[in-house]
Amino acid sequence: MSGGFTSMPSYQVRQYKLEDVAPGMEVGTIISECGKTVLCEGTVLTDNLIAILQNWGITEVPVKEKVINPDETERKKNWIQQQFFSEYEDTVMAIQHCFEQVRFFREVPIMEMQELVEKTVNPLIDTVGVINHLHLVRRWNEYTFHHSVDVGIIAGVLGKWMGYRGVELKDLILSGLLHDIGKTRIPLEILDKPGRLSDQEMTIMKQHAAYGYEMVKDAPQLPMSVRCGILQHHERMDGSGYPHQLCGEQIHHFARIIAVVDIYDAMTSDRVYHEKDNPFTVVEMISNQVFGQLDPFVCTTFLNNVRDYFVGNVVLLSDGRQAEVVYMGPFRASRPVVKTEDGQFMDLEKYKDIAIIKLVTT
Ligand SMILES: [Fe+2]
Repeated sequence: MSGGFTSMPSYQVRQYKLEDVAPGMEVGTIISECGKTVLCEGTVLTDNLIAILQNWGITEVPVKEKVINPDETERKKNWIQQQFFSEYEDTVMAIQHCFEQVRFFREVPIMEMQELVEKTVNPLIDTVGVINHLHLVRRWNEYTFHHSVDVGIIAGVLGKWMGYRGVELKDLILSGLLHDIGKTRIPLEILDKPGRLSDQEMTIMKQHAAYGYEMVKDAPQLPMSVRCGILQHHERMDGSGYPHQLCGEQIHHFARIIAVVDIYDAMTSDRVYHEKDNPFTVVEMISNQVFGQLDPFVCTTFLNNVRDYFVGNVVLLSDGRQAEVVYMGPFRASRPVVKTEDGQFMDLEKYKDIAIIKLVTT
């Protein structure tokens, strides 16, 4: 999908005082007073490296800044995004059609879904910037259809980070697309309720995992892994999930992957009673709060890789300014280094009173 755009970015070098540099800046070659090379061209600064420069008595730092041709950059980004949005919308319509068929005829069109994975969703997961595009997608339809497509795509992306390939990867994507298929048996007044569910309604809603499994359990062409993803995606590693309160290794690895993706997508999507959280905060909440309930390997793989997508995002800060994320430090995802619209580099770990309010563009 990214074919046809191969031009390399060009750079200009600007001298910064050492006290003005920040992690994330890319430097030119830095040579000490005694002629020794301290840092090579292209090195990206970290807190440690800045401390090393201080120790060497370096006072001026050459910083490489990308010279951006706005027309070219915009054209490239628009082209990739439009392609993605168009295929994403087709996929949402296909999922809606599938859910309607299941609701009326009680049969999952498995062959159609496998073809959808093969021809559309599997290629989509390789789109440059895929996770970012999902944050900007226009939600024109019911939450469940978008959520199913999102979970299928993100499960595929995460599966690839974890080393899944070929048939197994396609099965994982299929399991993600179908994970909530049991919701077709939940009454619409509960499924589409514009508010929080009562305890009784929640009990009914929770049956969707078992319902989904019942619908596909006798389908000979569907591997057990796909069925387990559907049945167990609300099970939790500490036994606190449903429907069977399974623990740790009892939970299939497809279900452990879908669990993480399901939470991430639900929290970063707008719903009737829940305005979406920004992905920086969600990543931090996943790493802080639910580690005991989710598979640690799945979680770390997801969190470590998804953070890379955030560099280059434009965010709105609580002081009203917009800023570009230039560096994600090793700690809190909601406190990256940003460059404000008026050119100030700010390490949000140090500016505690300023927070990211929302994502503006990617
Ligand atoms: Fe679910």
